[in-house]
Amino acid sequence: MALWGARFSSDTNELLAKLSESISFDQRLYAQDIAGSIAHVKMLAKQSIIPKEDAKQIIAELGTIKAEIEAGDFEFKESLEDIHMNIESRLIERLGDAGARVHTGRSRNDQIATDIRLYLRDEISEIKILLSALQKSLVTVADADDQAILPGFTHLQHAQPVLFAHHLLAYVEMFSRDMGRLEDCAKRMNVSPLGAGAMAGSTFPMDREFVAKELGFDSVSQNSMDAVSDRDFAVELLSALSLIMLHISRLSEDIIFWKSQEASFIDLGDAFCTGSSIMPQKKNPDTAELGRGKAARVFADLNALLILMKGLPMCYNRDMQEDKEPVFDAVDTTKLVLATFAPMIESIEINQANMATASSEPALMATDLAEWLVKDGMPFRTAHHRVGSLVAWCNENSLALDAVSLEQMQISIPEAKAECLDLFSAENSVKLRDITGGTAPKQVRKQIDYWKKQLK
Ligand code: ARG
Repeated sequence: MALWGARFSSDTNELLAKLSESISFDQRLYAQDIAGSIAHVKMLAKQSIIPKEDAKQIIAELGTIKAEIEAGDFEFKESLEDIHMNIESRLIERLGDAGARVHTGRSRNDQIATDIRLYLRDEISEIKILLSALQKSLVTVADADDQAILPGFTHLQHAQPVLFAHHLLAYVEMFSRDMGRLEDCAKRMNVSPLGAGAMAGSTFPMDREFVAKELGFDSVSQNSMDAVSDRDFAVELLSALSLIMLHISRLSEDIIFWKSQEASFIDLGDAFCTGSSIMPQKKNPDTAELGRGKAARVFADLNALLILMKGLPMCYNRDMQEDKEPVFDAVDTTKLVLATFAPMIESIEINQANMATASSEPALMATDLAEWLVKDGMPFRTAHHRVGSLVAWCNENSLALDAVSLEQMQISIPEAKAECLDLFSAENSVKLRDITGGTAPKQVRKQIDYWKKQLK
């Protein structure tokens, strides 16, 4: 009979048992479930709610169960639904009445809310380490190739030359905001629900603060109904993971493009690419493509959680069991992608010659010419218009911007001077952008050094 079965006159329908079980996926919460029970039982004994001798036996047996699970010797039973009842049943089986006291003043509702918070708290720490390793990889490559210039794009059209390192550091910035979101979310998550019971609190004189302290929570929940029905913390985490994956996906897109034959700006280590089963020449950037693809999956996990929660009345509803698989999937997927991306990034080999050729296209310096005219006294809008006319004239006459003589330039820009002819160098162009956040080598070097120190 199920632990809750006394008021039932028939067994659970076989199909409902299948529908109902979560042990196949929530067994990964065993360590948190056991830690929660140990803290709970210590408190019950301290408050004289259960005999001290029983608490001692329960705690010892929980240690044995943990060791058995880790050795693969514990038989999880689908008929016992979830991790909570698999462990509790074993305690009762082994300890009789002492085991039957573990669930005093507790419900699976506050128990699962505790387990998942403890679990995600640890996962966030791991994700932060992986994210920081990826940032380090980006900074390492930026540091090694700190002089390479490539065309920056807007609308996927050549725009202005930028340092390759500057481009990589843009992602370091994005990931550092992601880091902030993870930290923020971990703080809000670290509140103990234990003591909320099924929903209304407890008639026992429980010391909730003691339990919270034992488990490393910063505080205890202030409303028992909120404590058992809140899953904001999971939604917040999956939002933060979705943004990480969004950034991964955009980085992937850049890498895939840079490695394409059309751009040929970089190559990736063989270990991070795969071949084609039919085309012998192929070397595809699958790591990046999968990073882009896995983002869809994590967004779907977030979406599943939002849809799951939106119609639920207070307090706990069984629907909420469905939060686990998307949460676990989002965490696992993000971790695997982050772990793979760090070494992939370090395997980047740049093709400086191709980058230089593409970024020396003189049209990329059109803005520099307009800004030179402004420095010479011309209003910006007029300068923009004059250079635009020069571009049109060059197109009509099939001439590159840097191939025109001063006289030809003066047809569109009467104010042009000899110095204007020297503006069409990518090196010069990046050097000119020497303000905070600009792509000048001096500024980028400052940023590389800043991040190297930050990420140590
Ligand atoms: N397995 C359940 C879940 O993940 C645990 C809580 C069950 N509570 C209940 N009253 N059936 O949500």
